[in-house]
Amino acid sequence: MKIKKQESTELIDLKNFLDYNKKIEVEDNTFQKLMFIYEMAIKELNTKIEIMQKEFKVFYDYDLIDHTNNRIKKPESIIQKMKKKECKLTYKGMIENINDIAGIRVICPLKKDIFSIRNLLQNLPGIETIKEKDYVTNPKESGYSAYHIILGVPVMLSQKVIYVKVEVQIRTMAMDFWSSLEHKMKYKPEEKPNKKTSKEWITCAKMINKIDNRMMLLNE
Ligand code: GTP
Ligand code: MG
Repeated sequence: MKIKKQESTELIDLKNFLDYNKKIEVEDNTFQKLMFIYEMAIKELNTKIEIMQKEFKVFYDYDLIDHTNNRIKKPESIIQKMKKKECKLTYKGMIENINDIAGIRVICPLKKDIFSIRNLLQNLPGIETIKEKDYVTNPKESGYSAYHIILGVPVMLSQKVIYVKVEVQIRTMAMDFWSSLEHKMKYKPEEKPNKKTSKEWITCAKMINKIDNRMMLLNE
């Protein structure tokens, strides 16, 4: 394969990749190419988060981040969400409307760490904040608590730099415990959630919030 001389290091949005893709000799496998770019965006951001985690440990002897998880949304879940959102079932529709194809979860010990991590992520050179939701200050009706940010992450390919959306969910270990269990129970097909159990989950979320606040005081 002959590699073309780099024309420019033009910054493009992932949706413009579709036009660029048409100029590449191998035109098929668009979905695989897109998923590869999302995967690389996760890799890029993960490395930055790993450096952050280790820097705080080595320089300040502080465990800012407990661990991280990441995933690429499954094709069937992407389609399901697109149908639910009633967006056009095209690649462009997918890129524009589905913000969580690439997802990273950052789990930290204390509630205040969430905001430190948020600030550090938003100050990373080249990273853009596209959208953010503070379910820590304002939990969801279900009781769900976490900080969500959609970041624009540059992925450097040989010919182009492509900005890709990555959803980052930042939570404490306690919040993660609640949401992992709640998520599992919610999608248990044999158990339809009723009002009583929903209320119970909200009560547990409030207890978890109290524990998070007390843990923060203990740490001062
Ligand atoms: P989407 O387009 O579906 O992402 O809608 P949205 O923009 O309202 O998403 P939001 O940021 O509110 O939440 C998206 C993600 O947060 C979900 O995929 C879950 O991972 C998590 N989440 C949101 N609400 C809940 C909840 O009630 N329980 C649990 N366990 N997780 C939740
Ligand atoms: Mg999601």
